[in-house]
Order: sequence, then C-alpha cells, then structure tokens
Amino acid sequence: MKPDPTRVAQANNVVSPSPEAILRAVELLREGQLVGLPTETVYGLAGDGLNPVALARIFEVKQRPLFDPLILHFADAAGAFDLAEQIPTSARELAQRFWPGPLTIVVRKKEMVPDLATSGLPNVALRVPSHPVAQALLRAFGGPLAAPSANRFGRISPTDAPAVRTELGEAVPLILDGGPCAVGLESTVLFLSEHQPVLLRAGGIPVEEIEAVVGRVQHARPVDDRPLAPGQLKHHYAPRKPLRLVDNAGEIPSQSDIGWLAFGTQNRAVPFLGVMENLSPTGDLREAAANFFRVLRGLDDDSRVGTIYAMALPAQGLGLAINERLERAAG
Ligand code: TXA
Ligand code: MG
Repeated sequence: MKPDPTRVAQANNVVSPSPEAILRAVELLREGQLVGLPTETVYGLAGDGLNPVALARIFEVKQRPLFDPLILHFADAAGAFDLAEQIPTSARELAQRFWPGPLTIVVRKKEMVPDLATSGLPNVALRVPSHPVAQALLRAFGGPLAAPSANRFGRISPTDAPAVRTELGEAVPLILDGGPCAVGLESTVLFLSEHQPVLLRAGGIPVEEIEAVVGRVQHARPVDDRPLAPGQLKHHYAPRKPLRLVDNAGEIPSQSDIGWLAFGTQNRAVPFLGVMENLSPTGDLREAAANFFRVLRGLDDDSRVGTIYAMALPAQGLGLAINERLERAAG
C-alpha cells in the first residue's frame, strides 16, 4: 500500500501552510489548542491570546515560569492598539515605521487582557509579525495570538519547522512549516510610555534604527530591572554543551572535539582542527543573525563536538543583539 501523504504529515505534525492547514490551525486555536507558527524572527508556540486555558497550556508545554509574560501578535496595528489603554506617540511612530516586522512594544494594557498573558503586570507586549503565514493565520483567526518562541524554556529558539518538532515533539498538534526564518533573532522589545523608551531586549531591529525614529533609548539592565523586563534571565538560549566566549581566536584550542562558532575573517595563527561553522564568511551581520540559532543548534547536536567556542561579533547593529544572546548562552 502506498503511504497516504496527509497521514504522514499528521504523524509528524509538520504541515505545509495550505489554506486547509490554516483553517485546521484556526479550529485548533478556537478549541484552546496550540499551533507551531512561523514568523520572520523565530518560530512561535501560538495560542488564543484571550483564552486563559490556552495561555496556561503555553506555559505548561514550554515549561516556562509564570513570571515571564507573553507577546500578543496581531494582523495589524489597529488590532494591536485596541488592547492598549494608552498609546504613546512613540508607539504610533514606531508602529508606522516598523510594523509589520520584528518589533514588540510594551504599553499599558486594557482590563480585558488576561493576567496570564502579562504575568500580572499592568503592561502588555504587542507585535505585528510580517511573515505571510503568520499574517494569514492571524487574519483567519481574527484575534490576538500569544506566541513565545517555540522552544522549551531557556533553550535555543527554533528558526525552522524541524527544530520546533525537536523542541516540542508531540506536545503541539500542528506545526505550520513556513521555511527558515529570514531574520533569525527574536523581535526587539521596547517599553514605551510618555517617558524615554526603554530597550528590554535587543533583537531583529537594530537599536540604532529605533533611535533614528524616537531618539535615545534607555537600556534596561537584565536581572536588575526584573519588574520591567521579566524573562531576561542570565542563562537563556542555552545549548546543552558548554559554550565559552573568548576575546581572540588564539584562545580557541585546536582539538577535534571543539566547535567554533566563527564570523567573518576571525583569524588564528595555528590551524584549527575542530569543527568550524561560520555565521557569515563575508562578515554580514544580517546573514549572521539569520544563521545564528540554526548553527548554534547544529554544533550542539554534532556528536563530534564537546565544547563550543565563540568570540563576540562587532558591537553594532544586529551584532549587539547576537552578542546579548551569546553572553546568555555562555551563562
Ligand atoms: O520575535 C519574537 O518576539 C518571538 C516570535 C515568536 O514572535 N517571540 C518571543 O517571545 O520571543 P518570548 O516569549 O520568547 O519572549 C518574550 C519576552 C519576554 O521574555 C519578556 O522579556 C518580554 O518579551 N515581555 C513580554 N511581555 C512583557 C511585559 N508585559 N513587560 C515586559 N516585558 C515583556
Ligand atoms: Mg524565547
């Protein structure tokens, strides 16, 4: 008997995002179930943002602590601002410039936003993703979708559908396969009020581009600013293997069990005998961002590799966001 392709697709949960698959996803979401969702940044674990049962399920599947609030996703800015109690001018300006796209803004929430979505905080995180599959699902669903990155808590974010499958296995009934994520890093998260904007997480939109629109932003220090920026724990994005950050390539031991997460033309005098993966041989930070989590995951899964080494990238543009993740991955 020939294998039935739809049954095979169901057996491993990963399906191509046909109109039928989108309808099935909407059905599941209306029942309070979760769906693996491609966005331009990373894959999300999506559930009905206004249904506390679905929200509780997200925390459960991710094994995520309840103090770490979720981002609500919308098809457009009008939908997003509907859940904001106040909309600062800076929020309108940034939405105009960067939505749909990898920017999340945190503003005062309306009463109707469930406490589980915001971990009891008075503010809610809003985002309008640009990925066509995310857009299609959001439009078909017709309401906000809560979606954290589709990894188990503290682990490496998935940037393709097979990685979601590896992270969450059978725990999600459906994973929409939208191909590899173009940006590859999570959205930039900004807290906005009538005061100076505060950067809660460096991400897919470089902070320089944000500052070009709204002027200087303040940088929240992780951990210290915990009430404002929960979830930014020191040990995050963690591979299972130890990751060491070094200042120059000469410090990387030349052994066969070393994985080197390289970038551009980082040079060393002695030849390297381990496993080298270059995020972008030409030194392009956008390319490096798009490759980052996939390459880190690859080295983590490579049986030849015992320890991963990396150097910080140039501290500008997306390099800042990648470095932040490298530092957390190093713990
Ligand atoms: O690119 C992204 O943002 C991806 C995709 C799937 O959209 N989502 C994502 O979600 O990265 P997550 O849950 O992994 O990270 C969300 C972070 C939280 O850890 C927290 O730091 C911040 O956003 N956040 C969410 N709500 C907040 C709130 N009310 N106040 C302060 N920070 C908040
Ligand atoms: Mg995450």
